[in-house]
Amino acid sequence: MTAFDFAPLLPAGLPPPAARWTGLAKYNFTGGNNDADQVPVDGLITAADAVIAREGRNLATYNLGHGPLGYRPLREFLTEKLKRDAGISCTPDDILIVSGSLQALDLVNGALLARGDTVICEKDCYQGTLTRFARLGVNVIGVPLDDDGMRMEALSVALEDCRKRGVQPKMIYTIPTVQNPTATIMPEARRVELLRLSEQYGVPVFEDDCYADLIWDGKRPPALYAMSKTANVIHCGSFSKSIAPALRVGFLVAPWAIMSRMLPLKTDAGSGALEQMVLAEYCAAHFTTHVPELRKALRAKVETLMEALNEQFGTTAEFEDPQGGIFLWVKLPDNVDAMRLYQAALKEGVAINPGPEWSTDKAHSGSRLRLCFASPTHQQIREGVAILADVCRREFGVPTRIANVERARA
Ligand SMILES: Cc1ncc(COP(=O)(O)O)c(C=O)c1O
Repeated sequence: MTAFDFAPLLPAGLPPPAARWTGLAKYNFTGGNNDADQVPVDGLITAADAVIAREGRNLATYNLGHGPLGYRPLREFLTEKLKRDAGISCTPDDILIVSGSLQALDLVNGALLARGDTVICEKDCYQGTLTRFARLGVNVIGVPLDDDGMRMEALSVALEDCRKRGVQPKMIYTIPTVQNPTATIMPEARRVELLRLSEQYGVPVFEDDCYADLIWDGKRPPALYAMSKTANVIHCGSFSKSIAPALRVGFLVAPWAIMSRMLPLKTDAGSGALEQMVLAEYCAAHFTTHVPELRKALRAKVETLMEALNEQFGTTAEFEDPQGGIFLWVKLPDNVDAMRLYQAALKEGVAINPGPEWSTDKAHSGSRLRLCFASPTHQQIREGVAILADVCRREFGVPTRIANVERARA
């Protein structure tokens, strides 16, 4: 049989073809996965039983009859949660439930961006955002970070430079609360300054807040959305990091002026209803007790990771002790090519995220790695880091001491 040739039919501009999935690496430090032991399985079973018994017949109707914004009890839960935790005053009618916050990114991009536009984001930034910007053909200006997130004097220079060139950036995309990949948290004073610049230059802010529940001490600055006095912020969040990413449930909070332009772009007739029902049922009763448990488990994991890196890499691996989240952003010596290390480590069963895929500045990120510590077990973290150190020494001659033992280059 000759297989049908689809190639001549494909429109221009498609992304490159996908490779077939070959399974997860044995030591998986990639992606934004969660800790399997912390998925509240029993609570989800009880919630699913209760909500399906009570409301299951509503599944016969698209959107459960609750309209295009999504299952109302989930939006009611979020209204309360966002007020309590992020200081956001909104109503259920300001919240759109989406299929993971990735769909929120698509909707915001779809409503605001055209090819050739300019956007501003943090220099080290979520890969899913950067690949979307690249696909859309927009110009990306990466603003450097320090320990407090995006640097405002650099943002100010970037905005002024755009103004001088007659360029109107379409948005400032930021992950201000446990930034991905740097894990920095932008303090309140800097948020005030960000909003001031946003107003001064007429550039809206897109606040991606999906890690905000995962700060170890539970204390977070108010959301930019909450602080804005001019309705110039779009906010998105997710249940991926607080409950489980495979559920694919996130949310968008936005002024109606822009929500009303995004809503027609959500053409999937609603996000999965069962997930929304189960989450609403579970979270109303258990969210505030579940999340501190999850944070404790994640904190223990990052301590294991930092110990393993210190033991295996010594001072060769530089990183900050993060205040929350699921990632460590690690700097290796300049001669380490993170892309090559990634390929070599993968052959040994260790998957890492190479820095250049998480940054607008390939030179700055060339010897950096992002390590997710949430999904590997403590033992996998220790073993995986030991293998990574071995591979790194073999390929680049560093670290020279592993587990406090001097090694010659292979
Ligand atoms: C900053 C950021 N935004 C959005 C997402 C997408 O998350 P989800 O679609 O699972 O809500 C992620 C996932 O890792 C992320 O790190």
